[in-house]
Amino acid sequence: MKILVTGGTGYIGSHTVVELFSAGYDVIAVDDFSNSDPKILDQIEKITGKKPAFKQLDLCNEQEVIAFAKENQDIDGIIHFAASKAVGESVQNPLKYYRNNFYGLINILTAFNSKIKLVFSSSCTVYGQPDTLPVNENAPVKKAESPYGNTKQIAEEILQETCAVSPDLNVIVLRYFNPVGAHKSALIGELPIGVPQNLVPFITQSAIGKRGPITVFGDDYNTPDGSAVRDYIHVVDLAKAHVSAIKRLEKGDTANYEVFNVGTGKGSSVLEIINAFETSTGEKLNYTIGARREGDVEQTYGDVKLSNEVLGWKAELDLNEMMSSAWNWEKYLKDNPF
Ligand code: WQD
Repeated sequence: MKILVTGGTGYIGSHTVVELFSAGYDVIAVDDFSNSDPKILDQIEKITGKKPAFKQLDLCNEQEVIAFAKENQDIDGIIHFAASKAVGESVQNPLKYYRNNFYGLINILTAFNSKIKLVFSSSCTVYGQPDTLPVNENAPVKKAESPYGNTKQIAEEILQETCAVSPDLNVIVLRYFNPVGAHKSALIGELPIGVPQNLVPFITQSAIGKRGPITVFGDDYNTPDGSAVRDYIHVVDLAKAHVSAIKRLEKGDTANYEVFNVGTGKGSSVLEIINAFETSTGEKLNYTIGARREGDVEQTYGDVKLSNEVLGWKAELDLNEMMSSAWNWEKYLKDNPF
């Protein structure tokens, strides 16, 4: 089986390439390096002993994607990560998000004639603030808070509607909760551009002295300690969920459009994450309490029964491993800047 990984040098993409290799798959990765670094390919080789076949490709360029598909007719499945993902930037520059996230998906479906097995990166952001927790896959999709969130909702609709008329298109949509952490080798991890907007990269950069104190966005939520609650999942567990999804598609007895939550099923507050980081690394963090961040939901965590039972996948790594691996990666970056 040969798997195309779009966004293969990105944060989740690179970890997934590693897990695909260890599960015995052939991999071809594509990326435009808009939010990643070519050196990630060498890092993958250091971990696995193998360098993935690679092509630098702009997925928004339909002709380039069509030519790529013609040259690579032995591709059996696609994991489509390549997309823009910064919530705040999407509010400032919505067209960038609609262009990148839709053109990329549509060009791939077009180039492969809607005859392919495809795993798509979606997000728990489609649920907004769920009415019941843990939230399962049948919960209603709520009006998106940002253009980024909207691209995920509409991309799911594009896939569902295309599947309805394409018997040879098989899609698994994975709705991720909050991916954090890094590979245990500390050779790959997240490479945020500028000031990190997400909690864990901000924590590690603050701890290493690259940033000032952390601001906890709100301590007056209706949660046990007042700070907002999320379902944090180790990026390596998340990567393995993609391998399980590919295996399910490979078996071929699936409905042609399926959706799964990918999380741990457990909620943790911002203050609990700060505490877990301090406990697992021995580093002391400075933080202050600030106002709530616009667009944030109070709490969300996933019902992961379906992915556990149907995908045969379960998150295995705990907060301790999430925090210590994120910290080891930050320390690696300090000595080996990209
Ligand atoms: C987590 C919690 C913050 C920073 C978003 C997207 C989601 C996915 C991941 C894409 C929240 C709090 C954060 C800080 C804080 N996107 N926080 N101080 O917002 O749950 O999810 O990123 O790839 O689709 O919606 O993640 O890490 O930004 O925040 O207190 O400096 O940490 O308010 O409660 P979020 P996050």
